[in-house]
Amino acid sequence: MILITGGAGYIGSHVVKQLLEKNEDLIVLDNLSTGFQKTIDTLQNIKKFCFINLDLKEIHKVEELFKKYKINTVIHFAAFSQVGESIQNPIKYYMNNTVNTINLVRLASSHGVNKFIFSSTAAVYGEPKFKLGKNLIDEDFRTNPINPYGMSKLMSEKVIKDEAKVNCKFKYVIFRYFNVAGADIYFDDNNIQPRIGECHSPETHLIPLILKTALNKRENIAIFGDDYNTPDGTCIRDYIHVDDLADIHIKGIDYIEYNDSDTFNCGYGHGYSVKEIINSVKTLTQKNFKVLNDKRREGDPSVLVSDNNKIISKMNWKAKYDDLNIIINSAYAWEKSI
Ligand SMILES: NC(=O)c1ccc[n+]([C@@H]2O[C@H](COP(=O)([O-])OP(=O)(O)OC[C@H]3O[C@@H](n4cnc5c(N)ncnc54)[C@H](O)[C@@H]3O)[C@@H](O)[C@H]2O)c1
Repeated sequence: MILITGGAGYIGSHVVKQLLEKNEDLIVLDNLSTGFQKTIDTLQNIKKFCFINLDLKEIHKVEELFKKYKINTVIHFAAFSQVGESIQNPIKYYMNNTVNTINLVRLASSHGVNKFIFSSTAAVYGEPKFKLGKNLIDEDFRTNPINPYGMSKLMSEKVIKDEAKVNCKFKYVIFRYFNVAGADIYFDDNNIQPRIGECHSPETHLIPLILKTALNKRENIAIFGDDYNTPDGTCIRDYIHVDDLADIHIKGIDYIEYNDSDTFNCGYGHGYSVKEIINSVKTLTQKNFKVLNDKRREGDPSVLVSDNNKIISKMNWKAKYDDLNIIINSAYAWEKSI
């Protein structure tokens, strides 16, 4: 049985969807702090599963789950993930992201879980300084988080790795996501009609923010810095479609069955600038909207793009939706529906 924490959230729900489609037995645990009951209801329509509305900090109740069910796999998404908020309130992040992960790892390891899959982030790399001729980030790149969010995840990674050293039955896969975007690829009458999608509050991710502007839910979209050392002066990021990322998690479960624990970057290995994304949204939605030029934000690296060779070669992963139009169209269809 698979325990999924944070399955009512954006990325977790897409993984739950794919697991249900594979008929896996699962328990979803979520306290609905940033996730949604509606998402759970939608997923229950695909196939019924056990949903537990619980905060991970209620360790004794979480332990009851490990005692009651034969859980062999944990996929751990539950966390807070707003970088700005983590700077304002670091303890909130260390408690929810790191302390709760330590407790979950302790329970999982002592109750015979042999596969632990963890959501990490490119934020563990901080502001990359490249050696001459290099501009992609591989998994051996030095880690140097520049905010409590990234540090809370790096500390969690360390705890998971250290536990695996002393309990050889406890194996892990750590996935470091780059920028996750898009929504459920689901067709209704030949039109893409996502059943689940991205909904953060406040939203800080670029694509939903631009789409909200295109749909008049916001007045304008700001570009933070147009004088970076990139072809059009704006920051470049590596966007991975959420259904491709979900597929990586499904592959990850099989992967650790037969391989050693490992850490993988999740991205397409190429990026788009902020201006390119804005222009694509304008073209695809046929809507014009106000774009403001603002000053650079502290801690925004000019380019953050993954070297994804490791996941391709070791996990045999092949992206299905490496296409900016698919990412934007699915996110647009979702944004119109909420
Ligand atoms: N969205 C991205 O681009 C991105 C990038 C890198 C890493 N990540 C990581 O991926 C994971 C999922 O991110 P998301 O974008 O889906 O976020 P999300 O906020 O949509 O989902 C997180 C879910 O965890 C739940 N949760 C949080 N704390 C909990 C607790 N103490 N107990 C029980 N449930 C709890 C929330 O209610 C929510 O449903 C996070 O760990 C995040 O750090 C996301």
